Amino acid sequence: MSHPLFDLSGRVAMVSGAANGMGRQMAIGFAEAGADVVLVDINLPGAELTAGEIEPLGGRVLAIACDVSNTEQIRNLYATIDSEFGRVDVVGNVAGEGNVGRPEDLPLDKVQEALQNLVVGRFASCQEAGRRMLEQGRGSIINFGSIGGWNSLGRGHTPYGMAMGAVIQMTRELSTEWASRGVRVNAILPAQVWNDGLRKRVAEVPELEETFKGGIPMGRLGNPEEIKGPAIFLASDASSFVTGAILPMDGGNLALNAGGTYPGSPRTYA
Ligand SMILES: NC(=O)c1ccc[n+]([C@@H]2O[C@H](COP(=O)([O-])OP(=O)(O)OC[C@H]3O[C@@H](n4cnc5c(N)ncnc54)[C@H](O)[C@@H]3O)[C@@H](O)[C@H]2O)c1
Repeated sequence: MSHPLFDLSGRVAMVSGAANGMGRQMAIGFAEAGADVVLVDINLPGAELTAGEIEPLGGRVLAIACDVSNTEQIRNLYATIDSEFGRVDVVGNVAGEGNVGRPEDLPLDKVQEALQNLVVGRFASCQEAGRRMLEQGRGSIINFGSIGGWNSLGRGHTPYGMAMGAVIQMTRELSTEWASRGVRVNAILPAQVWNDGLRKRVAEVPELEETFKGGIPMGRLGNPEEIKGPAIFLASDASSFVTGAILPMDGGNLALNAGGTYPGSPRTYA
């Protein structure tokens, strides 16, 4: 039996990156908890596949093509949500890419691109959602950050880390600005979670998996469906007094000192 505090019936939830990975699982989780869902992705056929999985759950579902780095497309997205649903109660800002490269070589436009994708894009979505939620007097925004926005990954991810650090601070600022008017803003920071790109990189360089596991006390990488619990918690009344929280979803990664070891650590036990 599920607890009523986690019930999202009657709420409209928008999730970006809903064609794949954690965005897809977050959207499925919200629908399982009773929400109507708007599935947003640059990959419309992929979002439509997710919609096909959600439809049998009985709620309303709509897939919309949108590039979340493009602020005009974000504005149009919210205008479509207005006309189709008339409200938005939950927003999961999941999609967004960074750029990689040696910091000494990176062209500045690659840095600007990462900031546009992850910071300006997420801010534009928060702003559009926030305006509507403030009017309603209620809403929950969940921004995706990364452990790479908290401390450094040190493998060419400088623009990504800079952007995710800004997403964390943006979350704190917005949560403070809007807390007294019913709008909660929180962030989730995943560590390495399996996705198609990660699988490809590990297939090319198999020792990568052990390196990642060396930083994760749980001794494994995350699975996309593990986003459902934290996301439903933050979206629902179960977290009614939680705002400005920066929640790691990382198997213990951020708790571990860089030189630390733990029982089962691949560096200390055979
Ligand atoms: N997987 C990880 O290890 C990890 C760790 C920390 C943070 N993150 C962040 O979490 C988010 C999702 O990761 P994932 O592993 O679920 O990814 P994924 O690759 O499985 O899925 C990403 C989805 O986002 C969509 N997308 C990409 N760019 C977009 C854009 N500009 N506009 C709209 N949609 C776009 C893709 O089409 C895809 O459906 C990303 O922002 C990523 O940076 C991932």
